[in-house]
Amino acid sequence: MISLTDLRKFKSEGRKFSCLTCYDASFAKALQQAEIDTILVGDSLGMTIQGHDSTLPVSVEDMVYHTRAVARSNSYALIMTDLPFMSYATLDDALQHSRQVMQAGAHVVKIEGGAWLVDTVQALTRNGVPVCVHLGLTPQSVHVFGGYKLQARTRHAADQLLADCQAVVEAGAALLLLECVPAALAKEVTERFGVPVIGIGAGVDTDGQVLVIQDMLGLTFGKVARFVRNFMQEQSGEHAIVDAIKAYHAAVLDQTFPAQEHTFQVEL
Ligand code: KIV
Repeated sequence: MISLTDLRKFKSEGRKFSCLTCYDASFAKALQQAEIDTILVGDSLGMTIQGHDSTLPVSVEDMVYHTRAVARSNSYALIMTDLPFMSYATLDDALQHSRQVMQAGAHVVKIEGGAWLVDTVQALTRNGVPVCVHLGLTPQSVHVFGGYKLQARTRHAADQLLADCQAVVEAGAALLLLECVPAALAKEVTERFGVPVIGIGAGVDTDGQVLVIQDMLGLTFGKVARFVRNFMQEQSGEHAIVDAIKAYHAAVLDQTFPAQEHTFQVEL
């Protein structure tokens, strides 16, 4: 079984690691067969499973339900679960809701934000809850950003993101996740901080990569983000889904994914 210690070891050895979202038992088993290193029970389930147009309607109860289904069916990957919108706005809420998702089977909780989460990260870590902080494009703040767009596009904004990373790492964050930021900035974060960094739309230099599983299986209807590669279209036969997931894992490890065309190159 993959642990945080393994992810730290992978980082120190330069061995990349794979992560995919997963919300149910069947895909949890497929991910185990493909030896995917980490699973994100993401609040993206608000869109992929529930049909909403954002992650905002997702509840803690939803996250507990899906975490249980995944944890029962995958004994290999490190399981990380999102605390959904406004469920960690106070320390009491963060502690109580982390208890619920950890007791459902999560090994790590993920929260979205920056330096303002320092007290939350400290309180959770002290209470035995490893925390991943998601920075850059944080979908729970889509209405603050005015849409899903590339973040930290200027040197000033990049320095702000670096300061946010520093604050949460000093507070005890076990992992960072960067979404939709320039590749050069993600490289800087990955090299500067000792904790493993997972990227999505953040270039090839982060320690790990994550995609929403529906996206990499070609099940996205409507606009597909630039950072997505469809691994299903290269497969055929009765094991096509597991083979596509295995191909994703291999491409992350040999760093052929993400390629230039999946990456945001901005001079900072
Ligand atoms: O909820 C989710 O799937 C996520 C990924 C987009 C990283 O947070």
